[in-house]
Amino acid sequence: MEEMLPGPEPRVEIPPGRERILPVAGTLLDGNELRYLAECVETNWISSEGPFVARFEQAFAREVGCRFGVACSSGTAALHLMLSAIGLESGDEVIIPTFTMIATANAITYTGATPVLVDAERTTWNMDVSLVERAITSRTRAILAVHTYGHPMDMDPLRALAEKHDLWLLEDAAEGHGALYRGRPVGSLGDAAIFSFYGNKIVTTGEGGMVVTDDERIASLARSLRGHAFSADRHFWHQYVGFNYRMTNMQAAIGLAQTERMESLVAARRRNAHRYAEALADVPGLTLPEEYGDVKNVFWMYSLLVEDGFGCTRDQLRNALAARGIETRSMFIPIHVQPIYRERFRGQQFPVAEELCRRGLYLPSGPALTAEDIAYVAGEVARVREGALVVGAE
Ligand SMILES: Cc1ncc(COP(=O)(O)O)c(C=O)c1O
Repeated sequence: MEEMLPGPEPRVEIPPGRERILPVAGTLLDGNELRYLAECVETNWISSEGPFVARFEQAFAREVGCRFGVACSSGTAALHLMLSAIGLESGDEVIIPTFTMIATANAITYTGATPVLVDAERTTWNMDVSLVERAITSRTRAILAVHTYGHPMDMDPLRALAEKHDLWLLEDAAEGHGALYRGRPVGSLGDAAIFSFYGNKIVTTGEGGMVVTDDERIASLARSLRGHAFSADRHFWHQYVGFNYRMTNMQAAIGLAQTERMESLVAARRRNAHRYAEALADVPGLTLPEEYGDVKNVFWMYSLLVEDGFGCTRDQLRNALAARGIETRSMFIPIHVQPIYRERFRGQQFPVAEELCRRGLYLPSGPALTAEDIAYVAGEVARVREGALVVGAE
């Protein structure tokens, strides 16, 4: 297992002749963000009671094709709210990919239920649909699909399975703002979905999340649980164990400004991807991300695999790029090898997820990257391949 795990994070240095590093993710706050924030301060509305929260919920839910949005403090909180709102409890099982960020599994654990893991597919890096049915047991309550790095999951076969086995179909769209599956927005494809608005996400509020759904009951339960589940007719009276997962008016103000130009923020991600794809097309030994099927991939993070033919390992490439001022991330470490979960999954095989963990990294992917930035990154990747920097990186 050790050889699958990424090495220590490299220190990113500003190289001679350059003024700054290229961060792996960045934000672009040049719309109405400042104006709306000033409005929060000027009107004294900074808590979650302020009017931007509802405005953001309505605007964002509309963008992703849903009737209801419930904004909250993070994508993880949104997952917990969504899973609580469907009534998940101890003994229940939820099917998720092992190749995902830890929050997908942790939110299930918070409810007392158990994540059941499915391997990834080598193309989209999403959960392998062909392996899902055999993971269903009498305790399964939901399938939670993840649109990994912004590539939509193949949802129609999952919908058929959910209907056949009477399961909830949920989406973790934390990474998929603006993505389309067969022309329909990610987030509107199941019974409910969540988004994250962490600083590296395509639409950001710094920290934040949202549950989106067409199901009025899920929305109203999630809304209640978000704020301590105060009873409507008697304030300090509680029939459910709620949480404080509220979003402030200031976060929502930024979220609304970002949502107003979501199309251009998504277009920036896709522009980055096309530029990288062109610039890296002739570099041997790399597997680049693609669009599989009738989908719009939003390339949240421009991710690639360093194959044996590249000439050095993924970690060696990361180290060499760090020395040239380029920040990267290794891909997810699968859930089944995490110290907090591995005992439970001992003996189960997830070879594709392990391969992705061993070979994958993502390049700078923020919306403010210029054509020159991308040419620089791609040029340095090619130079490492040619051997110029490999020795220095070791
Ligand atoms: C797939 C996935 N789910 C959930 C989350 C959690 O979101 P947050 O960091 O806003 O809690 C993330 C965050 O990156 C994610 O990538």
